[in-house]
Amino acid sequence: MAFISKKEYREEVLTKRSEVAIAVRNQWDEIIFNKLINSDYYKNSSVIFTFVSFKDEVDSHKFIEHALRDGKKICVPKVPSKKEGMKVYFINNFEDLKKGYFDILEPVEGCIEASPEEIDFILMPGVAFDKQGNRIGYGAGFYDRFLSQLKNQVPKIALAYDFQLYEKVPADEFDVRIDGIITEKDFITF
Ligand SMILES: Nc1ncnc2c1ncn2[C@@H]1O[C@H](COP(=O)(O)OP(=O)(O)OP(=O)(O)O)[C@@H](O)[C@H]1O
Ligand SMILES: [Mg+2]
Repeated sequence: MAFISKKEYREEVLTKRSEVAIAVRNQWDEIIFNKLINSDYYKNSSVIFTFVSFKDEVDSHKFIEHALRDGKKICVPKVPSKKEGMKVYFINNFEDLKKGYFDILEPVEGCIEASPEEIDFILMPGVAFDKQGNRIGYGAGFYDRFLSQLKNQVPKIALAYDFQLYEKVPADEFDVRIDGIITEKDFITF
């Protein structure tokens, strides 16, 4: 089998993802949302670090609203600069978010920074995944760098569509593996 690079997976998946009809995406998002909020990972955690979905990523906005209403503490990433990398801040509502790096919604000034030790569940975005827990992101390494600072074992679950899940994707030593993935078809833990 020819070696396929991370870049080629990114191109293939991002093209496919941009082609999913809105109605289909909404249906898949709803299924994924329900699996997530009914999971023990969700029920057993009080501080959740989640990505804020943008463009055609699996929607996480509905989840954030639900979790906040449910009394969970929610923290989300911000990239102040490429050099500083990713930091994580608590938000109380969507007013606490504004467009930042790459037009992604990020916490505004004044939000309180979360320390990695207090996070007990992480929801990950990503482009391509495999069943060994390998993950390909957009290629900046922000998540890999952030996750490599975590000392404790925090469950890291990705939200993705089924076509983003492959048998095997390439991984480097610095790639941090995830513990599971929720798609519209499956909830797999590794
Ligand atoms: N722990 C780390 N320390 C320093 N540099 C790192 C670390 N992890 C990743 N990097 C750098 O980030 C670059 C991008 O990594 P990679 O292609 O795996 O990104 P990605 O996993 O797609 O992105 P992301 O983690 O933001 O989703 C790598 O070339 C590497 O140099
Ligand atoms: Mg990586």
